[in-house]
Amino acid sequence: MDSIPANRRFWNRISSAYQHEHDPQIGATPRLWGMYSIPDAHLHALGDITGKRVLELGCGAGQWFRELAAEGAAVVGLDLSEAQLAAAAGAMGANRYPLVQGAAEQLPFAANSFDLVFCDFGGLSWAPPHVAVPQAARVLSQGGRLVFNVASPWSESCYDVAASHVTTTLQQDYFGLSAIAEDGGATSYQLSYGGWVRILRGAGLIIDDLIEPRPDLGTFNGYNETDTPDWAHRWPAELLWVTHKP
Ligand SMILES: C[S@@+](CC[C@H](N)C(=O)[O-])C[C@H]1O[C@@H](n2cnc3c(N)ncnc32)[C@H](O)[C@@H]1O
Repeated sequence: MDSIPANRRFWNRISSAYQHEHDPQIGATPRLWGMYSIPDAHLHALGDITGKRVLELGCGAGQWFRELAAEGAAVVGLDLSEAQLAAAAGAMGANRYPLVQGAAEQLPFAANSFDLVFCDFGGLSWAPPHVAVPQAARVLSQGGRLVFNVASPWSESCYDVAASHVTTTLQQDYFGLSAIAEDGGATSYQLSYGGWVRILRGAGLIIDDLIEPRPDLGTFNGYNETDTPDWAHRWPAELLWVTHKP
């Protein structure tokens, strides 16, 4: 729980600049995953959400949930940052969707409230997974799915902190990946592959797939423009977990 106040301050502070820089990419077309904007139509992670109760954990300005609502889902957007939620509210237009300020660490919903909980570099990147994953599992109904995209341990281990970009050499230990210090005292989180498997299984979830989104050669990375070119075409930069509650 310790990172909640600092992460909230961080996202409130950068929200406006973040949306200015990234909304054109995130909101360009529907259902784009991750730093390389890979369509869900290629990855088949979310599937048909028509009529489903959907929670986006760390929804930011709501580019994802607006699309899912347009496709017929009953969406709720949760985010820690009031500035990010204000951006989501401002982008809604005439359609009003429920927005909730809260933390992935302590979800303010009853058990069995949702058929799908998902995020793309959202709450499961910015909350301790050993706390946030059981929370997500709790609010899922039987058969409900938890689907989320996070940075891979590969990219974390090859990340040169001083140079602020991913390299082609190992820079940091893989074992012990956990809390990562971000700007302004904020914290993001990363786990080893085994760590993710144990936390997902420990929360009672079945792992259906681990998709490793692979951009085509030359694909633009709008988030880390300094990265070694085509790094993510050669190594997996992201992990897209597909799980369900039995
Ligand atoms: C990188 S953005 C992801 C949102 C959206 N998918 C996007 O690409 O803009 C991370 C979001 O997670 C939110 N966040 C950070 N910590 C959180 C927490 N503990 N619980 C819920 N949301 C959190 C931030 O406020 C921010 O809106």
